[in-house]
Amino acid sequence: MSPFRLTRTLPEDATGAALRADVLQGLTGSPRTLPPKWFYDARGSELFEEITALPEYYPTRAEREILLARSGEIAEVSGARTLIELGSGSSEKTRHLLDALTGLHTYVPVDVSESALTLAGRALAAERPGLDVHALVDDFTGSMTLPGTPGPRLVAFLGGTIGNLLPEERTAFLASVRAALAPGDALLLGTDLVKDEEVLVRAYDDAAGVTAAFNRNVLAVINRELGADFDPAAFDHVAVWDAGHEWIEMRLRSRERQTVKIPALGLAVDFAAGEDLRTEVSAKFREERVRRELDAAGMEPVRWWTDGEGRFALSLSVAR
Ligand code: AVJ
Repeated sequence: MSPFRLTRTLPEDATGAALRADVLQGLTGSPRTLPPKWFYDARGSELFEEITALPEYYPTRAEREILLARSGEIAEVSGARTLIELGSGSSEKTRHLLDALTGLHTYVPVDVSESALTLAGRALAAERPGLDVHALVDDFTGSMTLPGTPGPRLVAFLGGTIGNLLPEERTAFLASVRAALAPGDALLLGTDLVKDEEVLVRAYDDAAGVTAAFNRNVLAVINRELGADFDPAAFDHVAVWDAGHEWIEMRLRSRERQTVKIPALGLAVDFAAGEDLRTEVSAKFREERVRRELDAAGMEPVRWWTDGEGRFALSLSVAR
């Protein structure tokens, strides 16, 4: 069995403090918003896993198809000795990449969930003798501090999760990735692509109602963590394509006029009938924009691959 280590950059109480700050800011502003990272408690993570298996939700399958076809080339171009995976979760899709990266010395899964990291990290370390697994409890939307592992490094940010960041956040994020890398290190980025509106909306509003349950779950998180009295059934799940921004918005629409109390914040929030609370932005990309943003961050795009149907892209870029 190879070594497993876990480092916590994020302070123990940071999650609670960040949730309070985000809920206070998001629910007192106009329009009302919540950042999507609060979906992922144990129940939310389970629901997200269910989403990835839905017939309407193509990104996971499309990305897997690309990874299966291209992991050899990713290994060859990057020459990676360290793989850093941002938002690793269960590390499921990473296994294929780990198999292909023959020169790999260290795997660094990065996530805000210590339990997910410990579970997945220990299993991987046990499965792969000779591979160092150094898990990092960190919120990678802030500035990144990576352990001093051998180069070249490959940072993987998969699933299209970069689409959850607003444009300014995305610029800051790419800059912080570049700042953590040395020239010649690489970034493997998964981006969902702009496509037919119906296909996009269906992916975020499935017939079985799993995405609706996932969306409403954020209210259960706030109820539990902040003692709030949201009635999830009093909100409709809505998915809207914003053609101007080229992103999908998930919203919770108040079915009636209602007041929600949030004792931990000493706050009462009034919702008008039909008022929306935006819970997620999921940006969709075109090749040109991805290339431009990578280039602006000091990363040179060297490969662009899509699945057979052109729905999703993986790009590989190298730090200048
Ligand atoms: C995990 C952020 C990539 O935006 O498609 C799935 C989350 N939200 N269904 C996405 C999500 C609704 C997902 N990401």
